[in-house]
Amino acid sequence: MRPRTSRLRSFLPLLGAAVLFSGCGAGGLVTKGDKQAGMKIFQQKCAGCHTLAAAGASGTIGPNLDDSFAQARVDGYKESAIADIVAGQIREPGQYATGTAPELLTANMPANLVRGQELNDVAEFVAANAGAQGFSEATAVTSLDGKTIFKAKCGGCHTLADAGTTGTTGPNLDQLKPPFARVQKQVINGGVIMPAFKGILTDAQIRAVAQYVSSHAGKK
Ligand code: HEC
Ligand code: HEC
Repeated sequence: MRPRTSRLRSFLPLLGAAVLFSGCGAGGLVTKGDKQAGMKIFQQKCAGCHTLAAAGASGTIGPNLDDSFAQARVDGYKESAIADIVAGQIREPGQYATGTAPELLTANMPANLVRGQELNDVAEFVAANAGAQGFSEATAVTSLDGKTIFKAKCGGCHTLADAGTTGTTGPNLDQLKPPFARVQKQVINGGVIMPAFKGILTDAQIRAVAQYVSSHAGKK
């Protein structure tokens, strides 16, 4: 279903090697990023092209970043190393042939979408979350089934026994037992850390997931 992603995944070792062997040359190492600010920046500047579960992002022009970095995590890359790879990519993205054929990119990633502190913020946010365990499905969800939507988009951050999810970034919904309107409002607008899902999920999907949470939280 994502042939382009698997082709691009092979770029990662190249990027990694380039960063490792160029030492702290070009732009310096990433330090002192603010991950919460980084998520907002990601949603504004990167989400249109990339899928990343932690940001609620499902863009498909560039590679799925959960897929890109899942292997690096398995391979034991440190978070700081991944942050440097992401920063390197932002400074010097590859430029490849584009077109409509399936093996070509639709568009290239522009260089220097963010700089300075913003670059650190977004690189650390991606490094802390891309491919991290606990985020279930990263792909776009088309289902109208509340439980399916919940498992794909919410379970990585929230515990809900009925869905079998154990995320701890956000409140335990079995304990909170939020009514429909409260869930719906939160999903539309997001919170300080929680991404806003308006535009990512359809209105009908938001109603479905809110209905599902309000009728199943604390019931199992
Ligand atoms: C216009 C679409 C577009 C935007 C916006 C964009 N990217 Fe990309 N990105 C791509 C494409 C296409 C690639 C694959 C080609 C390449 O490696 O340069 C890519 C590759 C990457 C990779 C390497 C992944 C791999 O598997 O090799 C990372 C990391 C990345 N982008 C992060 C970001 C971040 C962070 C932002 C926001 C600051 C961002 N991108 C914004 C299109 C985009
Ligand atoms: C990246 C992690 C993350 C994801 C993904 C996420 N949440 Fe949250 N959620 C949070 C956090 C953190 C809070 C606490 C408020 C805040 O800081 O955003 C929260 C709060 C809530 C609340 C309580 C709101 C209140 O009134 O107190 C509900 C209900 C909720 N989330 C439902 C959902 C649903 C449904 C989804 C999926 C569509 C979802 N969340 C996806 C992290 C997340």
